[in-house]
Amino acid sequence: MSKENKSDVVTGASETLDASMLENKKTTSPWPGPQGMIPVTSGNADDANVHNRHYLDRLLVEMRVIDAVEPDLTTTIFGKKYASPLMPAALSHLNKILDDKNRKPMQEKAIAARELNLLNWIGMETNEEYSEIVAEGGDTIRIIKPFADPQKIMGEIKFAEDHGAVAVGIDIDHIAGENGKYDVVDGIPLGSIRMDDLKKYAASTELPFIAKGVLSVADALKARQAGCKAIVVSHHHGRVPFGIPPLSILPEIKKALIGSGMQIFVDGSLMSGYDAYKALALGADAVLIGRGILPEVLKNGTEATKNKLQKMNEQLSEMMLYTGIKDMNSFDPTVLHFEK
Ligand SMILES: Cc1cc2nc3c(=O)[nH]c(=O)nc-3n(C[C@H](O)[C@H](O)[C@H](O)COP(=O)(O)O)c2cc1C
Repeated sequence: MSKENKSDVVTGASETLDASMLENKKTTSPWPGPQGMIPVTSGNADDANVHNRHYLDRLLVEMRVIDAVEPDLTTTIFGKKYASPLMPAALSHLNKILDDKNRKPMQEKAIAARELNLLNWIGMETNEEYSEIVAEGGDTIRIIKPFADPQKIMGEIKFAEDHGAVAVGIDIDHIAGENGKYDVVDGIPLGSIRMDDLKKYAASTELPFIAKGVLSVADALKARQAGCKAIVVSHHHGRVPFGIPPLSILPEIKKALIGSGMQIFVDGSLMSGYDAYKALALGADAVLIGRGILPEVLKNGTEATKNKLQKMNEQLSEMMLYTGIKDMNSFDPTVLHFEK
């Protein structure tokens, strides 16, 4: 890589990092934190969240203002229209962690999404808790853990279908615990999802099936072959040590899936509408926002979450207006320059 060449139109290829870059990251990353929030990440070089932030902050935009107009954020996902491409992410367990047991942050997040006409995602909850949350919300995508017991997965797929989910999927990236064995969550063993399993789960439902946690072209092609209708390019807030930033592999994955009709969603440290813009410019159909709304969801509930998402919508719109992007079908990666 040439040191003189400061900026280049983004190609999507991830670059090699040297030690001085890793030093800088400590000052540019907002993680670990905010204090007391989950998950608190280490901020060290093996923390993939640090690399996310660093990558995002080095994507700069050129302006294309002549003929630019106020953009329309309307986004079509699985054939339905939503107010914007921001989707409250597949969070979980939030109803258990507050001292105030009268509060239900999972429901508060679902209500915020419904009131803003955004597509809400829900992660690991029991079927009973899931049904209580969706009873208050609007359209929902249900993400199921890669449980070792396939019957449990089948049962949750069916339950989500019966309870009006728009789509259902598995966070295939939640495999390993820090001991290098299959992880165990809430005492429930998880396992590996193999091609045959994925095919079986995708074929078992009328709903679009999603593989969440794709971070390679290889897995994207397997998801396609298995019959998935969408993927989430993600490393699940840095589950994998030294994980590449999802945005760095997104263009390659997008290219590999041309003609598949699959929708491509992305997450990973998208903390503002500006970050969301970059993911959309690089080819995402919509983005998941997790820790970008987590403090609001936990501290102040529905209103604060709505305000934060509205602010992010405004930032997205602002950036689209400056770069001449009029709607969700008009994003152009050549607007982005990678600062080296
Ligand atoms: C508190 C919390 C709980 C989560 N639970 C789940 C889950 O049950 N299933 C899942 O697929 N992802 C889960 N995630 C991961 C998010 O869906 C998302 O992939 C990740 O946080 C990266 O997005 P972000 O950087 O915007 O937070 C969880 C994230 C957080 C912060």
